[in-house]
Amino acid sequence: MTQTRRAARIARRMASIEPFHVMALLARARELEGAGRSIIHMEIGEPDFPTPEPVVRAGIRALEQGALHYTATPGLPQLREAIAGYYRARYGADVSPSRILVTTGSSAALMLACAALVNPGDEVLLADPGYPASRHFVRVVEGVPRPVPVDAASGYQLAPDHLERHWSARTTAALVATPSNPTGTLITTERLGEMAEIARSRGGTLIVDEIYHGLVYGDDYTSAVALADDVVVINSFSKYFCMTGWRLGWMVAPADLVGELEKLAQNLYLAAPTPAQHAALAAFEPGTLATLSARAGEFKARRDYLVPALRELGFDIPVMPQGAFYIYAGCGRLTKDSYAFARDLLEKAGVAITPGVDFGANAPERHVRFAYTQSIERLKEGVARIAGFLKAQA
Ligand SMILES: Cc1ncc(COP(=O)(O)O)c(C=O)c1O
Repeated sequence: MTQTRRAARIARRMASIEPFHVMALLARARELEGAGRSIIHMEIGEPDFPTPEPVVRAGIRALEQGALHYTATPGLPQLREAIAGYYRARYGADVSPSRILVTTGSSAALMLACAALVNPGDEVLLADPGYPASRHFVRVVEGVPRPVPVDAASGYQLAPDHLERHWSARTTAALVATPSNPTGTLITTERLGEMAEIARSRGGTLIVDEIYHGLVYGDDYTSAVALADDVVVINSFSKYFCMTGWRLGWMVAPADLVGELEKLAQNLYLAAPTPAQHAALAAFEPGTLATLSARAGEFKARRDYLVPALRELGFDIPVMPQGAFYIYAGCGRLTKDSYAFARDLLEKAGVAITPGVDFGANAPERHVRFAYTQSIERLKEGVARIAGFLKAQA
């Protein structure tokens, strides 16, 4: 087959799906480690903590007891109940378990939401910088992602004003993540409510990705679930619950969407992994929640160390990140090319960070993301190495 014919077989939409560029850096970091180099990983977007012990034990029990058949597509009834109970306990929100769908990570929930809401040609508003997969989910269903550049003025988040200005006749949804990846910043409760109202008044939908909920280091936040019942809310066991590899998430959907989403999920993946669902039941036990809350405290301590340390080194962090485990730092005073900077930092100093290019087109060459998914001791070592690297460059 000729090169041209082979290229023609690939769907056109694939041209707008980009890989996670950080994976190339991670691969290089692993290669260097394989060759004996010590690498400080500040690029990894998952908790360094293991899955809590009771969850692991519940997973093993499920395997031993042969809980290995498909569950119902929307998930184990007792898990949907437990998630509803979590909203009640944590946010004082009453959600019917019938609106909760357990999914294969929040990734599947995002895919379902886009497939169920976005027609070909429909536009979806997103913050730039933002989590790259979000715009790609929109693309996969032939929608048009409309990245809106955001900066310190709106806390690196979409604000009601952005929705007012950018919502067009073709816009069908706005998709936000709070706290955000890569900026770690939050949308306040008041703004979130206003944004839900704007979407509603335009006949569209607000989709809120709350995957970093739980990892929030302040008080002014609630789940969008508590604000409105026509918002699509997405969450996951990956981050706060330290269960990335179990591939389990969920969504809370408006009642009129549940049947459509269930139909789609049946076709796309049938059901989320059964052992993972049984394991996740233990995630809501008081002992597990206490462990997770202590870990959130540890993440906060790391943030409190790292933000001033990076500012001291010359990185610009105009807004204190209030959640997740990311700092999106301006590096314009240190380099004109964040990708080359990240590459050199890895090669010369053994510190891996993520260049801005992964998160959109809004000045990516002047930004890098730090993930504090390492102990404070390792972060301190990372900061010392970056200081040495910068000194050698000067
Ligand atoms: C903002 C955001 N949403 C969704 C995901 C997908 O996570 P998962 O599929 O593990 O729930 C990630 C992963 O990093 C993320 O950062």
